[in-house]
Amino acid sequence: MVKVRFVLPWEEKEISVPDGGSILQAAALAGVPVEADCGGKGTCGKCGVKILSGGPEEGASGKVLPGEKKGGRVLACREIVRDGMVVQVEAHTEVLKGKDFNGPHRLLADVHPLVEKVSVVMNPPTVTDQAPDLERLLARLPRTGIRAGRGVLAGLPGVLRRSGFRVTATLIADRLVAVEPGDTTGRSFGLALDVGTTTLVGYLLDLNQGRLLATASQANPQRVYGADVISRINHASSGGLKQLQSMVLGAANQIVSSLLEESGVLEKEVYEAVVVGNTTMTHLFLGVDPSHLAFAPFTPAFKGSMETRAGELGLRIHPEGRVVTLPGIAGHVGSDTLGVILATGLDRLEGFSLAVDIGTNGEIVLAGGDRLLTCSTAAGPAFEGGQIEHGMRAAEGAIESVEIGEDIFLRVIGNSAPRGICGSGLIDAVAGLLRWGLVDRTGRLRDPREGGGDLHPRLRSRLRWGANGYEFILAPGCDTPSGRDIVITQKDLRELQLAKGAIKAGISILLKEASLEPGEITRVFLAGAFGNYIRKESALALGLIPEIPPGRIFQLGNAAGEGAMMALVSGRERARAAALAEKVEHVELSVMKDFQEEFIKALNFSEGKLG
Ligand code: FES
Repeated sequence: MVKVRFVLPWEEKEISVPDGGSILQAAALAGVPVEADCGGKGTCGKCGVKILSGGPEEGASGKVLPGEKKGGRVLACREIVRDGMVVQVEAHTEVLKGKDFNGPHRLLADVHPLVEKVSVVMNPPTVTDQAPDLERLLARLPRTGIRAGRGVLAGLPGVLRRSGFRVTATLIADRLVAVEPGDTTGRSFGLALDVGTTTLVGYLLDLNQGRLLATASQANPQRVYGADVISRINHASSGGLKQLQSMVLGAANQIVSSLLEESGVLEKEVYEAVVVGNTTMTHLFLGVDPSHLAFAPFTPAFKGSMETRAGELGLRIHPEGRVVTLPGIAGHVGSDTLGVILATGLDRLEGFSLAVDIGTNGEIVLAGGDRLLTCSTAAGPAFEGGQIEHGMRAAEGAIESVEIGEDIFLRVIGNSAPRGICGSGLIDAVAGLLRWGLVDRTGRLRDPREGGGDLHPRLRSRLRWGANGYEFILAPGCDTPSGRDIVITQKDLRELQLAKGAIKAGISILLKEASLEPGEITRVFLAGAFGNYIRKESALALGLIPEIPPGRIFQLGNAAGEGAMMALVSGRERARAAALAEKVEHVELSVMKDFQEEFIKALNFSEGKLG
């Protein structure tokens, strides 16, 4: 075994790991978040860390990242841990807390929670009334058939006597979840959790009022095993299932701590959690083998809503509380998509509506004419900054929006110096490059030598020949902390084309299935954190979504999380979720003969407006 110490901005962690593993593997064991889009194959360049001491001899490894000096960052997946090594991990890879997902203090409309608190006053036992404590309590509850587990029974005698037989019973359906002294009916809380491949978002709600009290999010630590679901499934299949489950639960528990701290609510006052996520994430969250989702026919282990006791699962709410995952739809269309349908009320709207949740997997729903069609399309990590030369997630230092005029205006998250570009910034930048003729409709960056009289001289001077063809300098090195230029390369454009092609082709197939033309779409909802930040005009310019007036495009924020909140505070919405899951028709793109043809057609930037 060797000892390695990780230095993070907020803490230091030391861990003993088996000799011969990589720094990335050690980070995974220590629960240290390191980005690893390629899952450790050495191809994505995202796992850069800095060895502060105990590294290989100068020049021995040759794994220093391009553009870095010796003693600079190395790829964690390529470097072997050594005893006594001290490794620095950068800050931006951790908590994304407080980013404007569905703002707090909002009230939800339909409040009929399944958690029920009943104030009960009993007569104490006497020699003539020797009914056992549990029966005494159950007899006072509003209905019969209530069951109590060992966890509640264990403390029941003490609670009843300390409180003078005045208690509050908490019920969920036919289960007695808690018995508390006195009248605590005013305090009842629940957790809605959206488990994303990239980010987990948690919401704490007051179940009596339907009020959102606090929101917190955290990067999914499983990403050290790859950015996409397939790498996670592969890791789970090769013995890593327990580890992936404990990673995601660890992140969920950190979210819970943060929500409790912010709101002043106690862990034992949170009685129910409603969880949404894509099918792989839901399997991993529950510790269920997702192996068969990786290949046709993409069979999940389960599809319906699952219930488990929080203490058994390891989620730190009331240990007797209930954790419910909403039903999924198909192998790669999970309960998060159902959350989007609930939140938008897509099934009840007039006309034809399209909802697109853009991420490494794009989930698309087309609703109208009493049908709900859905599909999932593998967009790859480009929209989240993966496989992009200077791509990064939407964290501090990411260029999130770009305006290209005669000059270039960048908006950077945290108002700091730019360190990279996230998906929304990339889409803006490419839309601008298209508008100014620096990229043609086939996605080719212009050669500044070929005529080019029409190119604006200032913009033209930013085009240069790089290591892999032409590239466009978005932020010069004098403005960046690393001193390196932030560029958009020809390869970045190809990656973006593949990602947008996958989404566009998915939309086209659903439209064909419904015998609709793009012009017949009444409205488009862009869901997910990415959909919230993307500029509608840029999405249209790229041809990512059908050409409809920007006024009919709506950005929803985290609609999946919103759907989870609705199902948490309302039994009616939860029943609606179950009915919708049955109603949705899933279109499996991999068996559609015309998908490939639609995909190729969708690669060009030729269908959107460049206005
Ligand atoms: Fe190391 Fe991708 S290059 S994880």
